[in-house]
Amino acid sequence: MLTKTASATDAVAAQAQFASDVAYYLALHPRQLPSRYLYDPLGSALFEVICRLPWYGLTRAENRLLTAHAADVWRSARGVETLVELGPGSGEKLAVLLAAAPTRPKPLDVHLVDVSASALAQSAQTLRAANVNLMSHQADYEAGLVRFAEARGTARGALIAFLGSNLGNFDSPGREEFLRAIRAALRPGDSFLIGVDVIKDEAELINAYDDPLGVTAAFNRNLLVRINRELGGNFALSEFSHRAIWNAENSRVEMHLCSRSRQPIRIAESKCEFIIEADESIWTESSYKFSPTSLAELLAQNGFALTEQWLDDRDPFVLTLAVAI
Ligand code: TRP
Repeated sequence: MLTKTASATDAVAAQAQFASDVAYYLALHPRQLPSRYLYDPLGSALFEVICRLPWYGLTRAENRLLTAHAADVWRSARGVETLVELGPGSGEKLAVLLAAAPTRPKPLDVHLVDVSASALAQSAQTLRAANVNLMSHQADYEAGLVRFAEARGTARGALIAFLGSNLGNFDSPGREEFLRAIRAALRPGDSFLIGVDVIKDEAELINAYDDPLGVTAAFNRNLLVRINRELGGNFALSEFSHRAIWNAENSRVEMHLCSRSRQPIRIAESKCEFIIEADESIWTESSYKFSPTSLAELLAQNGFALTEQWLDDRDPFVLTLAVAI
């Protein structure tokens, strides 16, 4: 008898979830697609390129802050025996943080949570020389937090890192719900390190999400490539243009894929069929921007007390350390 391995069953379930999410979100008005699906192996590689673009200053600003203040983080977040990073990407930010960690008799437990298997593999490679006990979880953040809380055992202090302005990719009220899920995975006295982008000049914001080389456009359109390949979709890539819009009222950059023509869309695995109109768009991602005080308030409302905030002087970006209360 043929028995499926756990991972094959997981892959089948993940694919079924992808198919039903695509059907659900495309039927909303305005039409949408969940951004977590941007990160297949090609999407993750394109995202790494975005982080190096001259127009996308977030990664460099955050790296400058981590380099300058990693020692302050370890000094303030005392007794950390377990470190969790939600969405480590290439693992480079974590490497900067670990380089400043105080020497210790026992290796630090490090949990990496990412939906992308290639990001986890890349992070493990980046951290290969670090003296840590690495545990990778290919899971969404919520499931990863639960696995960390279960695996934590008797470890004393914990630090959860949530960098890259990934909090900005949640809509409100999901954002607060997620902060509460992070808080629920922690114990009083544990630490939380979060990096978020700050509102700046509109032209700068747009250039960061609609770069002149077209890498962000490729990253966004790759979602349609993925739907075509994995779910039997018929998206004609050249008929969709990438658009980034600054929505000042809601403090967010919105990413859209805009149809150049009226066209029939069919996605076999999602059992969905519809007509998309000329100029109608599919909203794929939002990137909310904050101020140091708006973030501090958000943390205070969801079970954290501010420890310290560091602001980059070249590119508005804020790194915040908070404690679970
Ligand atoms: N967390 C990143 C941000 O909000 C994610 C991101 C950067 C992104 N560029 C993107 C998401 C382009 C979608 C499209 O900046």
